[in-house]
Parts: sequence; structure tokens; C-alpha cells
Amino acid sequence: MKREQWKSQTGFLLAAVGSAIGLGNIWRFSYMAYSHGGGAFLIPYIIALMTAGIPLLILEFGIGHERIGSAPLAYAKIRRNWEWLGWWAVTFVMFGIELYYSVIISWCLNFFMLSFNLGWGDDPNTFFFEDFLAMSDAPSDIGNVRSPILIGLIVVWFLNWLIIYRGIQKGIELANRIFMPTLFVLTAVLVFWSLSLEGAMTGIRAYLSPDFSQLSSPAVWIDAYSQIFFTLSLGFGIMIAYASYLPAKANITKYALLTAALNSGFSLFAGFAVFSVLGFMAVSQQLPIDEVVRESIGLAFIAYPKAISLMPGGNIFGAIFFLSLFVAGLSSSISIIEAFTSAIVDKFGFNRKSVVTAVCCIGFAGSIIFATNAGIHWLDIVDHFLTHYGLVVVGVFECILVGWFFRLDILRKHINSVSSFKLGTWWNLLIKYFIPLVLGVILVGDLYNELSKPYSGYTWASIILIGRDWILITVIVAFWIASKDWKTDEHLKPVRGETK
Ligand code: PHE
Repeated sequence: MKREQWKSQTGFLLAAVGSAIGLGNIWRFSYMAYSHGGGAFLIPYIIALMTAGIPLLILEFGIGHERIGSAPLAYAKIRRNWEWLGWWAVTFVMFGIELYYSVIISWCLNFFMLSFNLGWGDDPNTFFFEDFLAMSDAPSDIGNVRSPILIGLIVVWFLNWLIIYRGIQKGIELANRIFMPTLFVLTAVLVFWSLSLEGAMTGIRAYLSPDFSQLSSPAVWIDAYSQIFFTLSLGFGIMIAYASYLPAKANITKYALLTAALNSGFSLFAGFAVFSVLGFMAVSQQLPIDEVVRESIGLAFIAYPKAISLMPGGNIFGAIFFLSLFVAGLSSSISIIEAFTSAIVDKFGFNRKSVVTAVCCIGFAGSIIFATNAGIHWLDIVDHFLTHYGLVVVGVFECILVGWFFRLDILRKHINSVSSFKLGTWWNLLIKYFIPLVLGVILVGDLYNELSKPYSGYTWASIILIGRDWILITVIVAFWIASKDWKTDEHLKPVRGETK
């Protein structure tokens, strides 16, 4: 079976950027900058990018390219008994993050439709929680499936399926060739439009005016590192799978630097639209800015709709905003499904199209729980556990496997042999010592907070049942799949670097 390849390396770059740029760039970064010292936050953010984000991205591109395989295959070719790690990464991202990520994309689609006649009415907060989500009181109180969310979800999974079914070149590459330029243009329209609103500068000042005193807080540094891991889609085997479709000659470090720069540049740029609009809302309602600022879901589905209703031409602005979120989310969503699909195809040799269809049907069915009355509770808990623990633990193991159970220089030499920007031994030190250490600190900090009080007021029972067990079940599944025999000879095929 011949491995498909990208038609061009720009296609690969756009796909990697498409995975990296997602909902997190729009609603997570800007709030983090605002709350962690404004412009001063750029210091820990850039340091995290240079010392952990880019080196790990190079590592993932390098592994995928050198070992020529999805995460489980690449890890099996490094050490057969570490194959489980690859399965764990792709299973928990597919059956964790993807299941609720697709539901949020469905919300974006719904809000895109609602924008045209400002369908959220005068009170977007009540509308979102009571009318749209019809949120139940507790995670155990599942209630019914919300039909508008379900309809959106069908559209999202249909598009996921269609794009991945068409393969690497005609599906993922083509989609990102359309999505990424569209996203950049839509975002530029939002930024310039919002900068012209009255009060925009008030918002920008809140977003970027530096408060250097915050830099002495460890939490600010921990958040900067976590944001970098999440935003570059690291640890999930996504970048490994994408890089496995590169031709033998591929400038790995150049593409890693470009992916990182475009992703962070986009975050910073989109932040202008977020904060100009919040500034506009603060000024037009004569409120201090900190009363209108919201993060993540609250920003997109409550604060933004409120501002859109106050704005001349707000319905068009709203439509563009939710369309951008939709496009950013969808391009990340397909990268997750591809990481899992390619892993199954590599190991079992099933027909790719059938695998895509089966994975999308199962994924769709699994995501329905997040479209019920209790959906937002589940989403909140699963998201918290996977992004805080799953991501960090997989990252640590990844560095340990490649740095300690493998001769890292094999990888470095290979990367240097194909890349224009060469890696020095500093890269080995970052992968072997620094990054696992930083991730370890994040983990301890998070665990400490976790045990001091139940997350966000949920009962311990629901947190343990949903959060902890979600992580445990995916580990068990990972070990189980890894224990099965290879049905292909992919794991025996030669690699691109040195063999000894
Ligand atoms: N990088 C994406 C974002 O910033 C999130 C993501 C996570 C994408 C996991 C794919 C996989 O929103």
C-alpha cells in the first residue's frame, strides 16, 4: 500500500496551520493576554513558544517524517512496546476532544444562522443557557437531545466525513487551501471593522497595555506554556500524521517555524477584533471594560452577541464572526479525525474510505451526549481533564520515549539533513530535560488546584465518573489496541534516518 502524499508542501503547511488555528486562538489567547498582564504576557508566551512549542513541533514533524507513520506506527517503529502511547494520544483526542469540539462547531453554525436576524434577542445570556442549550441542573440530569444542536452536528460530521473521505490531496489539502485564505480574509474584515467602532481603543488598551508585575506569578507562566501546547495541537499525534504524508525532501524546521509564526500571529491579530468589540460595548453601555470581558464560550456566545446587537450592521458582523469560528474549528476537527483514521489504516490495513465512514459514524454518535440538556456540563468536565492532564501527560511521555529510549541524534541528524535551519545540541537538551520538566511542573500545579476543591463546583462523583474515567478508559483502550498484532507490514518498513 503506497502512502498518499501532499500535492505541495504549501498544502502541508496550510493543513498544519489549519489544525493549529482553532477556537482556542480566538477566544482563549485574547482573554489570557488580557488577564495575564496584557502586552507583558507576550514575554512568557514567546518564551514558551521558543523553548517548548517550536522544539516539540519540530520533534513531531520530525518523527512523522522520519518514521513515516501515524503516531502509533511511528512510536512502534521507535520501540514496539511504546506503541500504546500513540494509541492513547489519538484515542483520547478523537473520543475526547473531538466529540465536544464538533458540538461547539455546531453551536457556531447555529449562531451564524441566528446572526441574520439577531435571533438571540435582548438578553443573550438567558438565551444561550435557557433557550439554546436548555441547560439542566447537573451532569447526571441528561434530559433530551437539543434538535437545533443535533442538526448542526449532522452538518459538521457530514463535512468532516466528506473532507477526510476524499483523501489527503483532494480532501484535507484542498479544504485547507480554501479554508485558510477564507479565514484570514474574514478575520481581517472583522479586525478593521471593529477598529472603526467607537471605543475600540479602550478595548485595545485593556488587551495590550503591559503590566509587568504579573510576570512574577507562576500561574502566568504555567498558562503560557499550556496555551502553547494546546494551540499548536501538540501531543495528540496530529502533527505526526500530517508530516508522515510529506515527500522525502521536506524542509521540516522551516515549516515548523512558519506554522508557529502564522498560528501566533493569527492569535494576536484576532485579539484586536475581540477587544475592539468589547471596548465598543463598554463605551456604548458606559460600563468599565472588566464588566464586559468574558472568556471562551461566554465570550463567543454571550458577550459577542450582545455587542453585535448594539452595532450598526451587526447582523453581518455576527455572521462573519461565527463563520470564522466555524471555519477555524472545522479545520482543526478534521486534523483530529485524520490522526485517528491514519493510525487505524496503518495498523489494520483496512480500506481507508470504510475507516473514515465508520469513525465518523461512531464519532457522531458519541458527540450526541454533548448535545443534550446536560451537554455543557459534560463538555466542561471532559475539556478540563483532557486539556489539563491528558495533554500534559502524553507530552511528558513523548519526550521521555524519544529523548531517553531512543537516540535523539538520529532524529536530529535526519531533520538537519532535510532542513535549511539546522538544530544544535540545544534541541536535545530541551527535549530531554527542559520540556518534560516544565510539563511536570504544570501537572503538579494543576493537581494541587484540583485536589483543593472540586472543579468548578461539580460534585466529586461527576468529576470522577466523567473526567478521571474518560482518561482511564482511553488508556485501557490504547493498551488493548497496541496489544493486537499488526495486520500490515508497515511497522517493518524502513525509516528515512539512520537505522542503528
Ligand atoms: N489548536 C486548536 C485550537 O487552538 C485546538 C486543537 C486541539 C486542535 C486539539 C486539534 C486538536 O483551538
